[in-house]
Amino acid sequence: MAPVPISPIKVGHIDDVQELRKTKPTTIPERFVRDQTERQTLATTLSPSSSPTDDIHVPIINLSKLMKANNNNTTTTAADEFHTEIVKLTTACQEWGFFQVVNHGIDLSLLESIEMVAKDFFMLPLEEKQKYPMAPGTVQGYGQAFVFSENQKLDWCNMFALGVEPHYIRNLKLWPSKPADFSETLESYSREVRKLCQNLLRYIAVSLGLKEDVFEEMFGVAVQAVRMNYYPPCSRPDLVMGLSPHSDGSALTILQQGKGSSVGLQILKDNTWVPVQPIPNALVINIGDTIEVLTNGKYKSVEHRAVTHKEKDRLSIATFYAPSYEIEIGPLTELVDDENNNPCKYRRYNHGEYSKHYVTSKLQGKKTLDFAKI
Ligand code: OGA
Ligand code: NI
Repeated sequence: MAPVPISPIKVGHIDDVQELRKTKPTTIPERFVRDQTERQTLATTLSPSSSPTDDIHVPIINLSKLMKANNNNTTTTAADEFHTEIVKLTTACQEWGFFQVVNHGIDLSLLESIEMVAKDFFMLPLEEKQKYPMAPGTVQGYGQAFVFSENQKLDWCNMFALGVEPHYIRNLKLWPSKPADFSETLESYSREVRKLCQNLLRYIAVSLGLKEDVFEEMFGVAVQAVRMNYYPPCSRPDLVMGLSPHSDGSALTILQQGKGSSVGLQILKDNTWVPVQPIPNALVINIGDTIEVLTNGKYKSVEHRAVTHKEKDRLSIATFYAPSYEIEIGPLTELVDDENNNPCKYRRYNHGEYSKHYVTSKLQGKKTLDFAKI
């Protein structure tokens, strides 16, 4: 989420999907209708309960088992549990690029509060939300991000995105005055999520056999941004996409799925879209492009998308955690081995440049990472 200076671009008329749903509940404007090849498969649309992907689940990591072993008086059981959980984490990062974390230590009341303020914000009248507009080509504020032309297909989603850390990336004009406790809640939530990211990166380093603070030392003052996504119901979920397939440009993404929301997030695993079933109070974590590059592809930044539901709406809150913009990154030497069939797959680049490239490209699978490929 670099504060990108961008020349004026024409994006055409963008319907606000919430308003559309309110005023013309069965109309799907042409710009939202996907080409055949881009639509979700009928299997997941028509009969979610009998979809062949129902039996596979994204791995679940119990963070308390990892945290406990940090105490000095670690017992043998705790050490064993730590080891087992690290093995699970390795598999999750290597084979899935996604996992859900339980016992993450973030106060449940905080998860509820952020969800409440996000929902309250989206439920405000359009004129109120439009006081915080996402200018075309930028990624902070209320609107649709990643739209760069008049003929580009649109996602069935409203977004509200804000840069949070470090402070200089904040655009305080976009921090809403309603609901009244929005900013305060976002601050507290972001502080906790930041700690979680730092802890997870430590365990991810351990799982790679690296020094545990390797990422934190490298990242400088990490950039943290939040994006709240609201997907209203859609009369034809088979025709539209909630959020286009993409990988995240971050190092890590933490996604909170709203309580009572429909199932919507899907990840691409072995060429099949696998739904991520929400687990109450768990957070969904995924590896972003930055960790894929740093690990020379050992840990994958997996393509994902969001689909909509005929009757139910859906809220999600994504936090993106990434290195400071001035940092140069490239595969860690420990994870490159030219002699043993593991050549360096990505070039070195400046992370700020990658961020800029990411936010000025439309969401299109893993295409943005071509930037870094050798
Ligand atoms: C994102 C994202 C998925 C969701 O915001 O990058 O992938 O379920 N969101 O909203
Ligand atoms: Ni994403």
